[in-house]
Amino acid sequence: MHTHGHPQGHAQGHAHGHAHDHARTHGHAQGHGHHEHGHNEGLAELLELDAEVLHDYHAGIFGWVREHDPSGRVRSVADLGAGTGAGTLGLLAQFPGATVTAVDADEAMLHRLAGNAAARGEGERVRTLRADLDAGWPAGLGGLDLVWAANSMHHMADPPRVLADIRAALAPDGLLALAELDSFPRFLPEGAEGGLEERCHTAMARRREQDMPHMGDDWAAALAGAGLKVEAERRFEAALSAPLPEAAARYAHASLSRTRQGLADLLDPADVAALDELLGDGPRSLRRRADLTVRAARTVWIARRVS
Ligand SMILES: C[S@@+](CC[C@H](N)C(=O)[O-])C[C@H]1O[C@@H](n2cnc3c(N)ncnc32)[C@H](O)[C@@H]1O
Repeated sequence: MHTHGHPQGHAQGHAHGHAHDHARTHGHAQGHGHHEHGHNEGLAELLELDAEVLHDYHAGIFGWVREHDPSGRVRSVADLGAGTGAGTLGLLAQFPGATVTAVDADEAMLHRLAGNAAARGEGERVRTLRADLDAGWPAGLGGLDLVWAANSMHHMADPPRVLADIRAALAPDGLLALAELDSFPRFLPEGAEGGLEERCHTAMARRREQDMPHMGDDWAAALAGAGLKVEAERRFEAALSAPLPEAAARYAHASLSRTRQGLADLLDPADVAALDELLGDGPRSLRRRADLTVRAARTVWIARRVS
């Protein structure tokens, strides 16, 4: 992690967003579109565990993004729908001369993000900006060399509008890197528990059809439609197997408990009971399993503002 190279003259520290004072909660495509209290705390925990367990996988993606900046000109970066900061921190490591504006509608996420940045000694290079991107582009956010948007674009009510705003906020030759999950993480070996996890994923897909109509959009077409030139597209697969770091079991637990909470109404009662056993402390507990894996995949598109 680089701790040097703080450019002068950037807005730094904890700046609070423009215009949007209402708190929003956002359904997560894992099937939790119900805005119950504490919902996003669970999401924040999940995002942090994802960043920890798949650290090397994410670092590989950020390294690939940096390959599209061979002259090292990236200084001003925005992370849209930044969550707890996996992207913000990963990009700071790859672009030592850059500062990142982390944008999110959720103040609690930004609070955790600022804490995570400070814990890494990177607080000075991060500015948090609370803004609901559905309500319009944040005033003053422009001249960007790189915009990173990971698993956030599908949350937007009108992605083409946001993509057009991103294009306008990019500096000439600026880059947009868009990452979207192809599949949510799977933790049980294929076919385990009679195919329980596959049935959970099928239920997730059904819930997403209701809650997340833009999940799985044709993003290359959307980028081109916004006047950006798509330069690269790459699918990144993660496949961790035993022996896993200890945090992987916590990640599996956090993820499957969100599945249990968010999808119980779509699952067979026997599957809900099986999830409860995995999540409990009994003989079938996840904690006792030595066969857990972490399998996930996302696609990243790199697009440039050429005019
Ligand atoms: C699935 S999380 C992804 C977080 C992070 N980019 C990552 O990959 O770890 C989606 C994030 O987008 C934020 N978000 C959703 N809709 C938004 C909107 N309209 N404006 C700003 N942020 C939004 C949520 O609050 C959440 O933090």
